[in-house]
Amino acid sequence: MKPPIPVITIDGPSASGKGTIAQLVAAQLGFHYLDSGALYRIVALATQQQNIAWSDAQAVAECAKRLHIIFENEQVLLNNKDITNDIRTEAIGKGASQVAVHAPLRDALTHMQHAFCKAPGLVADGRDMGTIIFPNAPLKVFLTASTEVRASRRYQQLINKKQAANYDDILQDLLERDERDQNRASSPLVMADDAILLETDNLTISQAVAFVLQKYQPFIQFSA
Ligand code: DC
Repeated sequence: MKPPIPVITIDGPSASGKGTIAQLVAAQLGFHYLDSGALYRIVALATQQQNIAWSDAQAVAECAKRLHIIFENEQVLLNNKDITNDIRTEAIGKGASQVAVHAPLRDALTHMQHAFCKAPGLVADGRDMGTIIFPNAPLKVFLTASTEVRASRRYQQLINKKQAANYDDILQDLLERDERDQNRASSPLVMADDAILLETDNLTISQAVAFVLQKYQPFIQFSA
């Protein structure tokens, strides 16, 4: 019997550093990487382009089923068009959180997310990776950071990208997104019972990456 493909899940709220940490862990281990938030962002963008309301559960799910999405190196292509930067705006992040409440959409995206699970392994980041999408993952990490620290990080990211940024607006948006992501009925953002909590307020990115890699060590020895 083939051994199961190892999966590391990294869940947490917006701007908790999941994406950066998950990508670096995946690179260190030579694993594939799934940015599940990007899928919800792509759906928010595609529905907006097709004048489909983010509140229309069925239409949003149907639209998602028709999308041709390619992740290539650092790029995201939607129907062969490069939308890498278009899905990273604050407005699309907000839209992603709104479409993500719909169970039919979450169902439509489940298969797509499972398809990322290929040898030699996968690091998956999002909100429900450890609870719903990969419940048997051997290592689950739940990242947290205070709202103020997350807002400061997001503010700095936008400034670095030379985009307009207002700290108070960012803080308000994060609070709204946390509230929606944590309290929706379908796959809310919660820590899996068997996840390890990592509080990142006082950690550098490298320290957080080292923590995850160290927690993964026993599994490497086990499978060797
Ligand atoms: O991680 P992110 O900021 O790119 O995610 C954008 C939104 O997508 C987030 O506010 C909620 C939703 N999302 C989700 O519901 N489930 C996931 N696994 C990933 C993201």
